[in-house]
Amino acid sequence: MSAPVACPVAPYCNDDTDSFAYTSARARWPTILDGVIADVKQTVSEKGVAEDGLIAKLEKVKQELLGLVELVIRPLEDDGGEDIALYNAELKRQTGAVPMTYANGPWLYTECYLYRKIYSCFKTSKGWEEYDFFARQKLDAFKSSESAVVELAIRYKALSAQLHGDVSKASLEVLFREFIDISLWGNATDLSLLTTLSLDQLQSLQGAAARQKSEKNILVNDVGKAWAAVSDTTKYGRVDIVLDNAGFEFYTDMIFALFLLDSGLAETIVFHPKSIPWFVSDVMPVDLGVLVSSLSDPAFFTKNREELDYLSSQIMKYSSDGKIIMRQSPFWTTSLAFWELREGGLGGGHEVWDDLRASKLVIFKGDLNHRKLVYDAKWPRTTPWATAIGPLASAKRTLFSLRTCKADVVVGLAEGKEEELEKFWIESGKSEKDTGRPGIGWAWSGKWAVMPFTDGKE
Ligand code: F6P
Ligand code: MG
Repeated sequence: MSAPVACPVAPYCNDDTDSFAYTSARARWPTILDGVIADVKQTVSEKGVAEDGLIAKLEKVKQELLGLVELVIRPLEDDGGEDIALYNAELKRQTGAVPMTYANGPWLYTECYLYRKIYSCFKTSKGWEEYDFFARQKLDAFKSSESAVVELAIRYKALSAQLHGDVSKASLEVLFREFIDISLWGNATDLSLLTTLSLDQLQSLQGAAARQKSEKNILVNDVGKAWAAVSDTTKYGRVDIVLDNAGFEFYTDMIFALFLLDSGLAETIVFHPKSIPWFVSDVMPVDLGVLVSSLSDPAFFTKNREELDYLSSQIMKYSSDGKIIMRQSPFWTTSLAFWELREGGLGGGHEVWDDLRASKLVIFKGDLNHRKLVYDAKWPRTTPWATAIGPLASAKRTLFSLRTCKADVVVGLAEGKEEELEKFWIESGKSEKDTGRPGIGWAWSGKWAVMPFTDGKE
């Protein structure tokens, strides 16, 4: 197997005590695994189905994670998946002088490996092959965001009536910026963060007032360039959205997609979901149906039925007309950086890159996608975006990342900005006391965001 493009900068690793990698590998992952085990137990007791040794397999993964039975990360066992060989080749390539463990390995690789390993437990258990072990959590969280869902549905219905009249380009731009903003901040709430976020905090991250307040927290803002790309009527009107989380975030992405279609800015929207349960809350193809049925169910969302029914009928109409498409690829659940979106790219990267040729704007949602764009490497935070995305800067694809910062890597900051943010964080009394850099936590909090763009022509 040929090797992926290498990055000149070292990755964040789980033994970097000043990194979010360190905390998340130790505090979050075991909690996430506990949630999966609890979910299986609940399904077994509610449905009376046999668990076929699944719980013991998951318990073993947890013991490995905690370093109790086996410290060293072993190659994944063959479960019939085409991606297994690639995961194992990457394990070899990314292992340095000492064997890789969950405690010292690269954050991006070990996290993807863990989710793939959990999936393997299900894939090899009879009756559980197709089971989405995060579905219950995703649905519960969506239900708890009712007030923000309704607020947006009202806004969208009122707007779409206006869109049928003669709308100036300047007005469309204003709306485009607003829907981008909504979709951006919709990412502030992903379920892997909910292990530490209360429901009140969740709701305060949503809603119009919160969004306006957050505007000043967008550290890199290339929305003007994205607007120029999307409003270019000389190009075929396809827009791609590489999805992140289901529930409220997917709902905001869908509203943005409806706006693009209603306004004529796009003729087709291609969504790219994950093919397997991923990072707790990520969208799978089935989540499109879940979204529509949740919005259409008066028992799920009780208020403002007219607006919600209108929305779900629009989604169904565009889906059946082939204007909203869900397109799967195994590439999105490899551990590879998006630098493999290239000719000859591994793990399906070549095919996706080829497909994206037809798109006038490819939007990457969320934190994990952003980490993969920049190889999750320890770039100095003033590194230009075009440097940190390596070959993507000249990949001849128009890429736009909408990301609230929930991890270590951040690039494109002006000189002095990082110091200012760290100072602010400490003065707000939120120091990360266990690290050597108490101001570091601003980058993990989801309160700041970046929206960098490239036309791929560097
Ligand atoms: O540990 C937190 C984390 O799992 C990060 O690894 C990841 O980048 C993020 O949460 C997921 O966020 P998002 O859903 O925005 O990709
Ligand atoms: Mg996610």
